Amino acid sequence: MLITTAIDYTNGAPHIGHAYEKVLADVLARYQRLCGHECYFLTGVDQHGQKVQQTAEKEGIHPATFAKKKTRLFLNLWKKLGVDYDGWAETTDDRHKACVQRILSDLKDKGELYKKGYQGHYSVRQEQFLTDRDRDESGNFGPEWGEVVEIEEENWYFRLSAHSAWLKDFITQQEDSVIPSFRRNELLGALERSGDQDLCISRPKERLRWGIEIPFDTGFVTYVWFDALINYASFAGYLAADSAGLPDFGKLWPADGSPTPLHIIGKDILVPAHGIYWLCMLHAMGFPDSQMPRLLVHGWWNIKGEKMSKSLGNVVDPDQLADRFGVDAVRYYLVRDIVTGRDSDFDPERLVMLYNQELANELGNLCNRALNMTARFCYGICRTSHEATSAELALRESLESSTAAYRSAMDAWDTAAALKAINAHVTHCNAYTEQNKPWELAKDEAKKADLERVLAHLVESLAHLTVLLSPILPEPATRLAHQLRREDLLQLKLGELYWGLIGDGHETGKPKPVFPKIVIEEEA
Ligand code: MSP
Repeated sequence: MLITTAIDYTNGAPHIGHAYEKVLADVLARYQRLCGHECYFLTGVDQHGQKVQQTAEKEGIHPATFAKKKTRLFLNLWKKLGVDYDGWAETTDDRHKACVQRILSDLKDKGELYKKGYQGHYSVRQEQFLTDRDRDESGNFGPEWGEVVEIEEENWYFRLSAHSAWLKDFITQQEDSVIPSFRRNELLGALERSGDQDLCISRPKERLRWGIEIPFDTGFVTYVWFDALINYASFAGYLAADSAGLPDFGKLWPADGSPTPLHIIGKDILVPAHGIYWLCMLHAMGFPDSQMPRLLVHGWWNIKGEKMSKSLGNVVDPDQLADRFGVDAVRYYLVRDIVTGRDSDFDPERLVMLYNQELANELGNLCNRALNMTARFCYGICRTSHEATSAELALRESLESSTAAYRSAMDAWDTAAALKAINAHVTHCNAYTEQNKPWELAKDEAKKADLERVLAHLVESLAHLTVLLSPILPEPATRLAHQLRREDLLQLKLGELYWGLIGDGHETGKPKPVFPKIVIEEEA
């Protein structure tokens, strides 16, 4: 399956919203692989457009130099956060340019593009033409449009309107075209309200030079959204020459009924960019319904209910956050404290609280105790042949139901619910430990079998938890597998988990805290 994220604008630095989307995609891609499915994860940067040109001009450097400089920030951050993508999309890449130009020429040949003159209002910030529909109740263009100028110019247009009836039908019939369903309803509502307008897809070079040249009219460059959306296909190998070093498009974008690409995007770019422009572009390019991608739309991280913005000075820098609290805490928080599709408030105190409580105290404690006591009381050897009592049967049931809940949450792209399912089993194991008190059993030679049975159940649980946690926290899962002396656990697929992963006589390793507690120094 192909999983993509939005490609981030390179006119600014990465913030926590960008990091959330990439970590979410990384977690979901790793989960697909854990299920035994092939998965190609594509992400990248959006380097063209007026904003990049303007910011570069302000800095007195060429837009290409500026975009490269900003691109490095994104590349370094994804490396730091363990975002392990397979394909990297940069829109200044020659292979992408060639693909965009080929698509433009093909669409023109098919009669999907036409040129016309236009006089009207244009939003510099949003890089788009405005109509009276974009005015607010008092008849003005609101602050969201930034500077609005009147211009008169000729441009190229895409016959978006020719595809609107198809789009309405498609979204209405295809339940998983937009996930979650309330976002699909939002798109359907927008389609009801939208008039039959075409899309202006060019900008004259006098106004914007920083873009992909229109191949059949060289005085123009391509509108940045038309260019950027095509990254999903161009970097998946669409229309690429064999030697281009890109993946096999037929495999990544199947036409045989197997899962179509999943585009992970924020709620702000569903309408009109992905939900209308992109799907209509694909339709015009000749993609059948069975090859239409699915849109997984996530919500926003806000700050105290307000949007993060440079002007409010409340933008959270994920790089600094990872330096302060560690990568594991940041990854965990980003997919734990938000329900996929909904908004959430970013709160560093909750980040610390959730990490300390659920990872350092609960899971960390379970690992330490289980491995420590196995080492101290049983020479590190697991004895798994003792007969289970009702307490062990209940523990096995807890693991089974947590694994099932984890699976169905992850299948529904809900990482927060999946983590809650994992944590429910950790809590069960800790309560089981308190009830059975292995440290007391160890004092009585006659209770050796009870001691061995309890510890073996904890170690077996840890082996399963290591695998379940691996898509979300790959590094800690590796450390855990190492301490269990079972690195091979991380090669297992979800369907291969069974009670008895840890065989009789297996020797575990030395425990070392996997989740050291975050201690906040009181400010003087
Ligand atoms: N360049 C376009 C996307 C082109 S895709 C063909 C763009 N870039 S962006 O940098 O503004 O946003 C990148 C992604 O980050 C988008 O999916 C956007 O929704 C997401 N986020 C931006 N701010 C966000 C939050 N505060 N919270 C969560 N995600 C947010 O749009």
